[in-house]
Amino acid sequence: MTTATRKILVTNALPYANGPIHIGHMLGYIQADIWVRFQKMRGHECHYMCADDAHGTPIMLKAQQLGVEPEQMIAEMNQAHQADFADFHVAFDHYYSTHSPENRELAELIYTRLRDAGHIKTKTISQLYDPDKEMFLPDRFVKGDCPKCGAADQYGDNCDVCGATYAPTELKNPTSAVSGSTPELRESEHYFFDLPAFEDMLKAWTRSGSLQEEMANKLNEWFDAGLQRWDISRDAPYFGFEIPDAPGKYFYVWLDAPIGYMSSFKNYCTVTGNADFDSYWQPGSDAEVYHFIGKDIIYFHSLFWPAMLKGADFRQPTNVWAHGFITVNGTKMSKSKGTFIMARTYLDHLDPDYLRYYFAAKLTARIDDLDLNLSDFAQRVNSDLVGKVVNIASRCAGFIQKKFDGKLKSELQETDLLDEFQAAANTIAEAYEKREFSRAMRDIMALADKANFYIAEEEPWQLIKDPAKAERVHEICSIGINLFRLLMIYLTPVVPDLAQRVQQFLNEDFSWDSHRQLLKGHAIEPFKALLQRIDMDNVNNMIDASKAANTASAASDNGELSKDPIAAEISFDDFAKIDLRVARIANAEHVEGADKLLKLTLDLGGETRQVFAGIKSAYDPATLVGQHTVMVANLAPRKMRFGMSEGMVLAAGPGGEELFILNPHEGAKPGMRVK
Ligand code: 2FM
Ligand code: ZN
Repeated sequence: MTTATRKILVTNALPYANGPIHIGHMLGYIQADIWVRFQKMRGHECHYMCADDAHGTPIMLKAQQLGVEPEQMIAEMNQAHQADFADFHVAFDHYYSTHSPENRELAELIYTRLRDAGHIKTKTISQLYDPDKEMFLPDRFVKGDCPKCGAADQYGDNCDVCGATYAPTELKNPTSAVSGSTPELRESEHYFFDLPAFEDMLKAWTRSGSLQEEMANKLNEWFDAGLQRWDISRDAPYFGFEIPDAPGKYFYVWLDAPIGYMSSFKNYCTVTGNADFDSYWQPGSDAEVYHFIGKDIIYFHSLFWPAMLKGADFRQPTNVWAHGFITVNGTKMSKSKGTFIMARTYLDHLDPDYLRYYFAAKLTARIDDLDLNLSDFAQRVNSDLVGKVVNIASRCAGFIQKKFDGKLKSELQETDLLDEFQAAANTIAEAYEKREFSRAMRDIMALADKANFYIAEEEPWQLIKDPAKAERVHEICSIGINLFRLLMIYLTPVVPDLAQRVQQFLNEDFSWDSHRQLLKGHAIEPFKALLQRIDMDNVNNMIDASKAANTASAASDNGELSKDPIAAEISFDDFAKIDLRVARIANAEHVEGADKLLKLTLDLGGETRQVFAGIKSAYDPATLVGQHTVMVANLAPRKMRFGMSEGMVLAAGPGGEELFILNPHEGAKPGMRVK
């Protein structure tokens, strides 16, 4: 039996509320989600929390740039983030925001406790100030010439050319990236958290033996360099929480961000009643608390955060688990190469279970970077999930259905292989528990190879030709389905959507303990294709779409937020290549699983085309049927996740509800060329 029920709280790093989720982010969320799903399957009480990280100067400035209140921007971003996570099957139990009443209350409580215990100090510091915008400038918002090598246009913290790090006040010819004005030095009183006072406690934590080796090494380097007091205040204007006893001063975003873990959980406890906040956060709590984070934010989570909790009389995390970054095709994600892939772009072209499996197949408990090599990705998913695992079911299910009335055999004689598959549960569980997912996947695929070998040796497709061997075919195929089932139980945390389809096929709900029983005399459903192979066309289309999206966003990031990029001039010959036609919208419907797309059937006067158009935000499909519009009729067909798209409909507008398909005057007939 599995061990006694544990109480576990898991968090992922909170994404900033000023930009979309990309596949680099997804690594950490998928890693934590797999771990959480595994714990839940084992029957543990596990609560999985996240929220948007909604404060700070970049968020304030981005909202100003967009001409909206920050509250509106962060609310919209929160919705978009939640949709991306849900569609990747990252199943948070709660998704909240750091701009919440609970977070304000807890940030104030923690700060007040720290202050009253003497852990908050003040000091006057000099900083660059933008006289036009009347604000102090964070390092990344000052640009100038590198003080070491003289390279122009460098940020205020480090030089991209020579790698030097420096203070923004050292930059030559500094300018404000916000207004372009020349910043001036101004003094202001700042509030500091006395981190060095917690050195002994942090050292003890580092030596406890439970931290990742690379993290403990990093911490030791920081101890050697000497811990510094941490500046936790920022002057107005700032989007965040005002410090209770300091008007005009705000908590630095990184002070209240990790408190967001607690406040998301607090709101969840209040709204659902599923857990008791105090029993998780009081000192001496028997609950386990784990933070999954990226390697770039170890300092905040392994030094400031445990020290803040300690100083404010809360429990510390059980552990902080960092992961590396992803590269795509061996290099940093690149906008120009189209490998800076947004979560939504991926979802428009590929099934999320593919990426979940690929990440799992490469993830270990270490902080190594992970390369998403796109041809290896397709090859691995096709060979492992489709070729090895699903193949077992597809080889056996047809016989069960056609010859044995859809029922598995009630007694199985040859149970050796089944015993081996069942016994593997322990080592696979141990690998999941330790976040050694690649080891778990390797073990599972080695078993899948054995199952395929067994079926290939037995050749049920030959035996079935002899009526006297029917019983034997029933035995082999029932064993095959049971082997497949065991593998899918073990794979459920990784590929939840596929596992869902398998559970429907098998008429069963999986828990981890399901592996202890076999299915005998059990009716299964007719076999339907469970998983498509990855087609490289879809991968390539995703890259093209990323390139196109990045070209558009690059133009908007250059300060032209509401304008589309202006296309380069083309010749008349270029224009003449485009076959524009009047089309009648014969049918329009929603596409299951697609956020932006509608599926249109277009009548070109005798010929019909299927086109997926990104106009869902602006149109109810029912209102489109019967309308005439204009389409590009000679665009090469594109294979999308939802099917072939055979052309493109023309629409104008910035997006969202403001998107208008082109409507020709009455009298224009389907199929007419637009000249
Ligand atoms: O680095 C980041 O993206 C931060 N928004 C992570 C915050 S994690 C936690 F502390 F809130
Ligand atoms: Zn330099």
